[in-house]
Amino acid sequence: MYFHEGEFGLPGLLLMELESWRMSPLAREFPYSGVVRYIRSVGKHFLAEPVVEALVQVRAAQSECTGDEESRNHLRRFLSVVLDKRDGTYDYATYTALGLLRPPAAAPLPDFEAEIGTRIAFLIYDALAFECGAALGYRSQLPCMRPSRDAVEKRLRHGLRVATEMDAFHSKPITPRVSGLQERFDQLIDVLEGAPPGMATRLDQTILPVYIIHDEYLFIRVLQSFESIFEHLARLASEAIVRLEARETEEALLLLSSIARVLSLGLPLFSLLATMQRESFEFFRKFTEGASAIQSVNYKTFEALCGTPAPARVESAAFQSVPEVRGRVLGSMTTVRGAADALIASTPHDPEAEARLTRAMAHIEAVHQRWKRTHYRLAVRMIGSVSGTGYTAGTPYLRSVIDNRLFRRAEETTY
Ligand code: HEM
Repeated sequence: MYFHEGEFGLPGLLLMELESWRMSPLAREFPYSGVVRYIRSVGKHFLAEPVVEALVQVRAAQSECTGDEESRNHLRRFLSVVLDKRDGTYDYATYTALGLLRPPAAAPLPDFEAEIGTRIAFLIYDALAFECGAALGYRSQLPCMRPSRDAVEKRLRHGLRVATEMDAFHSKPITPRVSGLQERFDQLIDVLEGAPPGMATRLDQTILPVYIIHDEYLFIRVLQSFESIFEHLARLASEAIVRLEARETEEALLLLSSIARVLSLGLPLFSLLATMQRESFEFFRKFTEGASAIQSVNYKTFEALCGTPAPARVESAAFQSVPEVRGRVLGSMTTVRGAADALIASTPHDPEAEARLTRAMAHIEAVHQRWKRTHYRLAVRMIGSVSGTGYTAGTPYLRSVIDNRLFRRAEETTY
């Protein structure tokens, strides 16, 4: 199946679909694909007023909507993401549609790790299928500023490296070498068609670009992949604290080493994103003002679980942009650093455990430093000296946060 059925979503067609759905409004049968298609044909920033109005009416009449609770909640979440610009709630979470990407309930840790890995792999497979499909002329969505063949080849190389490492599902292995773009495309479509249950819908509903420039597809998928990584890191750090408090040092060390591994595995995503065309980014970011990863709850939760952020950082845009995490920090959070110190203090005659815990934290710190430096270099390349969409000075802000340390003790006076 090379072409998506009806790639162009004309507003008139969508309005008819919505009207017909409203005759018997079953949540599960809401015309999600029609809405998504239409958004991708104009960009979320440019939705026609009658469409916005029709969606507002759907939301206002939600009490008449029938179906099970999960389907009705899903429709509510979907509409709040789609109507964010109209509601004045547009931000990083709605831009990246994070609430629609996560499965409804979090699984226990080993399944969670598999879910996150699989999710990232499919986010990237999907992005790469779009790249190949557009280059071969099978995709008409987001048609502006298509990249060169060279850029597509590079994206495939970097993207497949991360996706195949992360893929815990492995339904159909991706072969490293293929004869050309067509064969790679066929292979990606094959893999996507064998996705785990529910994945195709999650993928479909989470590309809601602000405009119709090709590279925004890649940008959104990379942000979603990193977010999934941060979500996992926060979960691993919480679990490590529990294990340290239970004096289960070996288990805690395993979790800490997983943090460093998962963070490292994600680093090549920056190389993938570095293939984005600067002019394309410059164009569509005019419409992403107000959405910045500085608002990432997962990133800041992970940071605050590692150690206590310095008061100056808690008062800065870094934590002011995530009020719920800031509230938890001010209310005093247990951290990996605090739990490790307490464990070491309670077992003063175990220098080996102390050394191993210190090494594990230093390893995470080193990978996190690499993450921040790579991010900084990418930002300099993409935006130079202009300000950030999260209202900081931009790259000078990013330069200044490199010196921060993750595993800071609450009583330390610096960083
Ligand atoms: C074109 C690529 C990118 C550029 C130009 C860029 C630029 C920036 C800028 C200027 C900031 C400062 C806040 C602001 O005013 O917006 C920022 C913060 C941040 N960005 Fe990016 N970014 C890029 C890609 C990414 C990616 C792919 C991620 C992964 C999710 C990411 C994660 C973050 C995080 C977590 C922060 C907050 C850092 C902190 O507060 O310490 N960025 N970025």
